[in-house]
Amino acid sequence: MQSVLKWEANKETYQISQSHFLTLGSYSKEDIHFLLEDAIKLKKNQKEGVPHPYLQGKVLAMLFEKSSTRTRVSFEVGMLQLGGHAIFLSSNDIQLGRGESPADTAKVLSRYVDGLMIRTFDHQTLEEFALHSNVPIINGLTDSHHPAQVLADLLTIKEHKGKLKGLKLCYLGDANNNMSHSLIEGAVKVGMDIAIACPTGFEPDSCILTAMKKEAFLTGSSIQVGQCPIEMVKDADVVVTDVWTSMGQEAETEKRVNLLAPYQVNEELCKHAKDDFIFLHCLPAHRGEEVTAEIIDGPHSVVFDEAENRLHAQKAILKALLSN
Ligand code: CP
Ligand code: NVA
Repeated sequence: MQSVLKWEANKETYQISQSHFLTLGSYSKEDIHFLLEDAIKLKKNQKEGVPHPYLQGKVLAMLFEKSSTRTRVSFEVGMLQLGGHAIFLSSNDIQLGRGESPADTAKVLSRYVDGLMIRTFDHQTLEEFALHSNVPIINGLTDSHHPAQVLADLLTIKEHKGKLKGLKLCYLGDANNNMSHSLIEGAVKVGMDIAIACPTGFEPDSCILTAMKKEAFLTGSSIQVGQCPIEMVKDADVVVTDVWTSMGQEAETEKRVNLLAPYQVNEELCKHAKDDFIFLHCLPAHRGEEVTAEIIDGPHSVVFDEAENRLHAQKAILKALLSN
């Protein structure tokens, strides 16, 4: 399926390089910049009360195999604001939960809806949906990627810092998770330097690292992975962390809390970042574990702007993929 986006706002025509939204790594840097610019326009329209019903009559199905607050509500509200409609599907309530295959589910849902947003465990399940779907598949989080979140993060950084290229982002904690991988891909695509602080055994996926290191060479960014939090956070413009126990890893909580404790984002550590650093966390957060209340509720934190930007960034994704 070829998705062609006609961007009428300034009479330009732009074609997103992908028909689905599975990872930021598969998007070009032009696609990402386009989505960010369009998100800024859509946000302005929304704030000024300018109607923008690009998806009138379109329907998005939202399939969840895990819990969600932000993703569920922001995608549903986004569809409504764009003039469309969203249907919430819990895997427990549909036949997928009783063993119907992702392939058959994708083929059937493609006959009813114009797009499908999925939150699942294994990234391969998402890819299987994409393989068999005739409508765009949008990643609402898998175990290994959370690209919609990171697009919102890039938007938040751009708003607060006025630029992306050349900034240093430091991510601390579990670097083998969805947020870490999508941050690496997103940062590299827009030319940000990314430094990752994590203990042995929590390093990013080696395939993602290898691919993104090659790309970093082209975009002029850099990727560093190290064990020393102070060294990695030094002079960072943006400090980011995520929960130490992601959804599905609950049995490992005690082990993870012990091993990741030295990577907590707190005031002492942040003295090594730039004076005007901003703090991001995709939420939900555990105050006193990966971040202290002083930081997440303090003057450097932009986590609620970040949460709001899920709505605007995702509207740009929905418009790009569903409006033709
Ligand atoms: N950040 C994020 O994806 O939040 P939810 O799990 O609430 O959707
Ligand atoms: N890494 C977290 C992100 C939650 C939005 C998880 O997968 O649970």
